[in-house]
Amino acid sequence: MARRAVCPGSFDPVTHGHLDIIARASRIFDEVVVAVGVNVSKRRLFSADERIEMLRTACVGIDNVRVSGFDGLLTAFCVDNDAVAIVKGLRAGGDFDYELQMAQMNASLAPGVETVLLPTAPPHAFVSSSLVKEVAAFGGDVSGFVPGFVHDRLLARLAERADGD
Ligand code: PNS
Repeated sequence: MARRAVCPGSFDPVTHGHLDIIARASRIFDEVVVAVGVNVSKRRLFSADERIEMLRTACVGIDNVRVSGFDGLLTAFCVDNDAVAIVKGLRAGGDFDYELQMAQMNASLAPGVETVLLPTAPPHAFVSSSLVKEVAAFGGDVSGFVPGFVHDRLLARLAERADGD
């Protein structure tokens, strides 16, 4: 049976750091489902449909990856999709405590689903969607951290927001 993993996240928006983890997961597992949280509490810059569409475009060329929205518990999504693992990236510092807590909670909810934490590649160690949005909002250059088409969408959305203020 194909061994399937889930790469979950908010992806608001997708960064090169996310794509590095997805690509590496795709080389370890037979199939990867990128699971885009559609109903999480943080305020989002992009709608769930926009985030899913951007990920689908960014993942073109990785044959064993598909992108799906998910609502509710991640472990329920994993069980429904016959996934054996949750794969996430681990940056230095604060990520560890948060990820360990979630991994242990998820293990207690779905003992058959292992969490695999991949160390983030050094070039992406400091990159997060939140920081990318903050730096871009203040005019900083974030073009190296996201795919080109995502960068265009990000600047356009921030300009729309600024016009609306
Ligand atoms: O990119 P993020 O914001 O760190 O992604 C967090 C996400 C969506 C993976 C996490 O919030 C999640 O798993 N949400 C689904 C709800 C759930 O299962 N919560 C319990 C986690 S132990």
